[in-house]
Amino acid sequence: MTENPVVLLNVEDEILYITINRPKKLNALNDEVLEEIGKAIDALNSNDAIRGAIITGQGEKAFVAGADIGTFLEAPKESGKDLAQKGQEVFFKIEQSKKPIIAAVNGYALGGGCELALSCHFRIASANAKFGQPEINLGIIPGYGGTQRLPQLIGKGRAMEMMMTAENIDAEEAYRIGLVNSVCSEEALMDMAKQKMLVIIQKPRFALEQLINAVNGGMSNLNGYVIEANCFGKSFASEEKTEGVTAFLEKRKPIFNQ
Ligand code: COA
Repeated sequence: MTENPVVLLNVEDEILYITINRPKKLNALNDEVLEEIGKAIDALNSNDAIRGAIITGQGEKAFVAGADIGTFLEAPKESGKDLAQKGQEVFFKIEQSKKPIIAAVNGYALGGGCELALSCHFRIASANAKFGQPEINLGIIPGYGGTQRLPQLIGKGRAMEMMMTAENIDAEEAYRIGLVNSVCSEEALMDMAKQKMLVIIQKPRFALEQLINAVNGGMSNLNGYVIEANCFGKSFASEEKTEGVTAFLEKRKPIFNQ
């Protein structure tokens, strides 16, 4: 791990706080962050002294603003499928964790950040939170499970609209459509997530584990994730992706369909 850990871990009252810590890059997910999140979930599930986890982002601006776009241009064209599968694996770990995991969304939750929140068992947001799947603006598609979990949670039509338009929605709208369970002030967010987790971790451990298994079992269509990784891989190899990502890094509007 580097001197400045990209993921901070802190245990308090039997709750593991997992804080994504790259605030200057709006907590964007690179390989190291994904790896550290995976390790944190393993630690959660192997330590009897910890009963649940809360995932949040460092700083006031972002939960996670997506996968690290800065790494997309140098990545080989044919690496898209692997990239998607790596993220999917970590997010499956979260979803299938035998202990409860809540996302405390404290700002932008875009792209892989929205997908990270979706993989948690449920979500609580601060009033300044913004949700979106803007991948299409980069010439790619969501690849960390968003094409599967977003329609499951908010319905196919609304999910299609979010992913096709790349428009962000605010916390109130996210609450209205069931993407988050509650909204509170920025100051109250972590306490609200903690209070909810304290209720849950008083429940019997084994039954909680079986509850998570049962809910996940009825909703998982693994083939959908395979198709997503394949489609992400194809979009990642496209000229549209080169233009979309280059435009983002050059801070200009992309020019598509020429
Ligand atoms: N990957 C890599 N770097 C990112 C990033 C991402 N997903 N999101 C933000 N950053 C970086 C910016 O490049 C910028 O870095 P710089 O200071 O070195 O130039 C820094 O974080 C701050 O972001 P900035 O864009 O200047 O902040 P803003 O307030 O003007 O805009 C957003 C905030 C979230 C609207 C904007 O950063 C954004 O659109 N991010 C990308 C969202 C996205 O497409 N996510 C899906 C990725 S697959």
